[in-house]
Amino acid sequence: MSTVIDPALDLFAEIEKLKKKRRAIILAHYYQDPDIQDLADRLGDSLDLAKAARDASDVDVILFCGVHFMAETAKLLNPGKTVLLPDLDAGCSLADSCSGEQLREFRRKNPDHYVVTYINCSAAAKAQSDIICTSSNAEAIIRSVPADRPILFAPDRNLGAWLIKQTGREMTLWPGTCQVHVTFSERKILDLKARHRTAKFIAHPECEPNILRHADFVGSTRKLLQFVAESPHHEIIVGTETGILHTMRKAAPDKTLIEVPVESNRGCEGCNQCPYMKLNTIEKIYLALRDLQPRIEMDETSRVAAAQPLLRMLEIS
Ligand code: 13P
Ligand code: SF4
Repeated sequence: MSTVIDPALDLFAEIEKLKKKRRAIILAHYYQDPDIQDLADRLGDSLDLAKAARDASDVDVILFCGVHFMAETAKLLNPGKTVLLPDLDAGCSLADSCSGEQLREFRRKNPDHYVVTYINCSAAAKAQSDIICTSSNAEAIIRSVPADRPILFAPDRNLGAWLIKQTGREMTLWPGTCQVHVTFSERKILDLKARHRTAKFIAHPECEPNILRHADFVGSTRKLLQFVAESPHHEIIVGTETGILHTMRKAAPDKTLIEVPVESNRGCEGCNQCPYMKLNTIEKIYLALRDLQPRIEMDETSRVAAAQPLLRMLEIS
C-alpha cells in the first residue's frame, strides 16, 4: 500500500470522513502531540483508555494513539474490534524490561509470590501475572492482595518503591524504569523551587525517589491534571512527560505551568518527551484509517490468558 500522501489533502477533514466511513473511534493518551489530543474522541490516562476501549460498543474500529501495550490492552478487552496503532514501533522502555518468559521463570522459582504487573507490559507478561494495575489504581490493587502472600511488583521499580511507602507493604521490585521519568534533574528542580518560592511541585510516581521526595503531590497522569485544574496555587512545576501540559493549560489557562528540565539534553534519548508516544503523527493516523493497518492481532488462547488479570483489575477499579 502506498504511503505517499497528496500534499493538497486536508488531513484533518480526511480523517473525519474516514472515521465515519470506517465507524472508528480515536482514543489518545495525554502524551500525544497537541494536534492528536485535539483530534481524539477520547483522551485519557492508561486506565481511562483501557475502560474506553472495553466500552466501545457502537464502532467497528478503535484507532489507538498511544503505545503498543495500550493498543494491545484495547484488543485484549474488546477482541471483536479492529484495533489500529498508527506506528507499531511505538514501544515502551518498561514493557521492554520484562518479558513474559522472564516472568514465567520468576514464577517457577518463586511459586508463592503474587505477581502484580503494571499495565506497561506486553500481553505475554500480562499472561504471567495475577493482577494488573495502572498508576491510577495501583494503591487499591496492592491493598487487595491477600496479606499472607509475598508480592512481586513488575516492572517499574520507582512506582513500586512509592507504593511500598504508601501502603506499608513490602514487595520484591523488578528493576525496570520509564526512560522519560528517570531523566529529571534533582539539582534543577531545587533551583526552580528556589526561584519560584510559592510554586507547588507535582510528579508522576514513575520518577526516581530523589525527585519524588521534593514533590508536594504525587499522582498518575489524570490525578496530576486534576491537581492543576483544582488547586488554588497559581504556579505549578510539572514533573512528567510534557504532552500533558497541553491539556493542563486548557484546563487551567490562568496558571503558570513550568516543565521540569532534564539533567543533560542528549536529544530524545534523554529528554522529557516520550520518543515512542511521539511516533504517532497525523499522517500515520490518516494512513491507518485509510488502509486499516497496522493492526494489533493475537491468537485467542494468548488473548484469554492475558485478559484474565486485566479483568481482575477492572473489577477492583
Ligand atoms: P498513566 O497514563 O497511567 O499515568 O501512565 C503514564 C505512562 O507513562 C504511560 O505510558
Ligand atoms: Fe513507556 Fe515511559 Fe513512554 Fe510511558 S512515557 S510509554 S512508561 S517509555
